[in-house]
Amino acid sequence: MKKIGVLGTGAVGATIGKKLVELGYEVKMGSRTNGNEKAVAWVKANGKGASEGTFADAAVFGEIIFVCTRGEFALKALEQGGVENFKNKTVVDVSNPLDFSKGMPPSLYISNTNSLGEEVQKMLPGAYVVKALNTVNCEVMVDAKKGGGDITMLICGNDANAKAEVKEILAQFGWNDILDIGDIKGARSQEMMVITWVSVMSTLKTPHFGFKVVKP
Ligand SMILES: NC(=O)c1ccc[n+]([C@@H]2O[C@H](COP(=O)([O-])OP(=O)(O)OC[C@H]3O[C@@H](n4cnc5c(N)ncnc54)[C@H](OP(=O)(O)O)[C@@H]3O)[C@@H](O)[C@H]2O)c1
Repeated sequence: MKKIGVLGTGAVGATIGKKLVELGYEVKMGSRTNGNEKAVAWVKANGKGASEGTFADAAVFGEIIFVCTRGEFALKALEQGGVENFKNKTVVDVSNPLDFSKGMPPSLYISNTNSLGEEVQKMLPGAYVVKALNTVNCEVMVDAKKGGGDITMLICGNDANAKAEVKEILAQFGWNDILDIGDIKGARSQEMMVITWVSVMSTLKTPHFGFKVVKP
């Protein structure tokens, strides 16, 4: 099994990391500093298979790397991770370019003609970036059934092998309906969906739901 680096100590990094350790992967959680309080607690809770370090430590360790950092600092975190450490690796970008500066609901600080996914790919030209999982809550990410049914997961990216690798992990997270919407420009629509996600979440008063693509 490939080693996995998870950049991010928030709910997303902790939830994805936990699930990957449960599945038998070795996972290193990365943050801005060694010994980050949340990362140390996550290692303690997840035991064998879990470790922590800086963003660079996690990037070096991971053969597949999940980007689960705050959207506005995602590129900064990659820079701290060392751009060369991502070369020839599959990078799963879960982050969203959310701007909370004017309160709720958030807006997107990149959209329409660009996306954070594309900026991540530009920042890591030697890596194979796949945008995935950003359109659901983190508990649904790792347990698709929690979304309430056979919901759809959109993914996109420039490299077919990397997308196949990500699909395998998504299947282990319980995703049966995975729709590949093409190259990394698809991240524009995946990220814009998050605005709809926030409206639906406010209406339903739960983050446990998903979207389904249907056709005749
Ligand atoms: N919450 C969800 O269910 C959900 C669902 C879909 C997508 N997302 C997206 O997933 C990402 C992670 O969300 P989250 O709620 O788990 O965590 P978050 O609070 O958005 O991000 C936490 C991470 O961002 C890093 N960070 C914060 N400021 C930074 C800076 N100045 N420079 C570098 N790194 C910095 C933190 O580093 P330290 O570890 O050093 O503190 C931490 O690892 C976000 O982009 C979010 O939009 C979230």
